[in-house]
Amino acid sequence: MTTVSLPDYAIFVGDFWSEFRNFLSNTSYSRHFVIVDEHTARYCMPRLQQQTPDINWLPIIIPPGEQHKNIQTCNTIWQQLMDNNANRGALVVNLGGGVIGDMGGFCASTFKRGMDFVQMPTTLLSQVDASIGGKLGIDFMQVKNSIGLFRNPQGVWIDPAFLQTLPFREIRSGFAEIIKHSLIADPGEWERIQAIQNLESITWSDFLLPSLQIKKDIVIADPFEKGLRKALNFGHTIGHAVEGMALESEHPLLHGEAIAIGMICETYLSHRILGLPLETLDFIAGFLVRIYGHHPLAEALYVDYLQLMTQDKKNENNQINFSLIPDIGKVKVNQTADKMLIRESLDYYNSMV
Ligand SMILES: NC(=O)c1ccc[n+]([C@@H]2O[C@H](COP(=O)([O-])OP(=O)(O)OC[C@H]3O[C@@H](n4cnc5c(N)ncnc54)[C@H](O)[C@@H]3O)[C@@H](O)[C@H]2O)c1
Ligand SMILES: [Zn+2]
Repeated sequence: MTTVSLPDYAIFVGDFWSEFRNFLSNTSYSRHFVIVDEHTARYCMPRLQQQTPDINWLPIIIPPGEQHKNIQTCNTIWQQLMDNNANRGALVVNLGGGVIGDMGGFCASTFKRGMDFVQMPTTLLSQVDASIGGKLGIDFMQVKNSIGLFRNPQGVWIDPAFLQTLPFREIRSGFAEIIKHSLIADPGEWERIQAIQNLESITWSDFLLPSLQIKKDIVIADPFEKGLRKALNFGHTIGHAVEGMALESEHPLLHGEAIAIGMICETYLSHRILGLPLETLDFIAGFLVRIYGHHPLAEALYVDYLQLMTQDKKNENNQINFSLIPDIGKVKVNQTADKMLIRESLDYYNSMV
């Protein structure tokens, strides 16, 4: 097991179970709740129960998926906490992907002005990204993560063994954030990643630590997203627009699949605006298409993509805001591009067949 320390809490990675049992026996929580969705109730809760046989876990089970990350589901969670006499002396364990972590953390932080909670992420995306940094929340009126708060957990417990039951598409989606972390901050890690031949034979525990360290360093430097933390948005300005449009279509894309497209387009912008070498652009783009395939973006819809980017909450002064890479391992926040250049970046992606 490896421990990564932040100012207010620690991240435990690997076979942490004896340490986790110590944590439970050294604390005197009145009750132990575990929030899961139907999938993690089935695939992950048995492991938690087997590893902590002395604890009487009170499960709160919600339906899976982003469409349930809303106030109605929070009602159910708060109601079950109330029905089971939860108070501020109780603990909540969020056992699941980013949806459970964000929403379970939000419910725990607001219930009776805040209960302790820990994150036990079970998807690749939540292990390297969502569980770290204290951002909690839910979607409201179709706007993602529009209600929420910053609050740190008591700890983040990452067991790569949970990934064994995660479907391949979900693994590949989370891998996009690992790629992103290396491109914005760690050329050595990018070297290792670009040498990957076959995603299905990867030992993910080898890639988790370097990746979550990058996220950790960035959130320590800028806990409330005043500046540097925007670096994590590389690929996300165009990626979110692609994700939003795909949601309406017959073939929705997972978050990381859309971010892969966004990273290709924003690497193109990095080439045009910040002078990233052309061969580096072609190499990154080729790698991403090899992993994620190619999903043409209809030219007739460019205007809708641009419209979605214009609405992005990260924009300032009516300009579409990007975080771009002047070179591998470097990032510049608060970059802007005019609409013609953004269209060109979509053309670049489309030309890659
Ligand atoms: N707080 C942050 O800083 C932050 C950062 C990035 C993303 N997010 C949020 O994270 C969410 C996406 O997270 P996600 O991709 O983990 O999605 P998710 O939580 O919906 O999980 C994806 C799917 O995998 C299933 N699953 C989870 N663990 C499993 C396991 N071990 N075995 C089998 N199935 C399993 C889930 O039930 C679900 O069906 C979004 O809501 C996003 O806004 C938050
Ligand atoms: Zn992301």
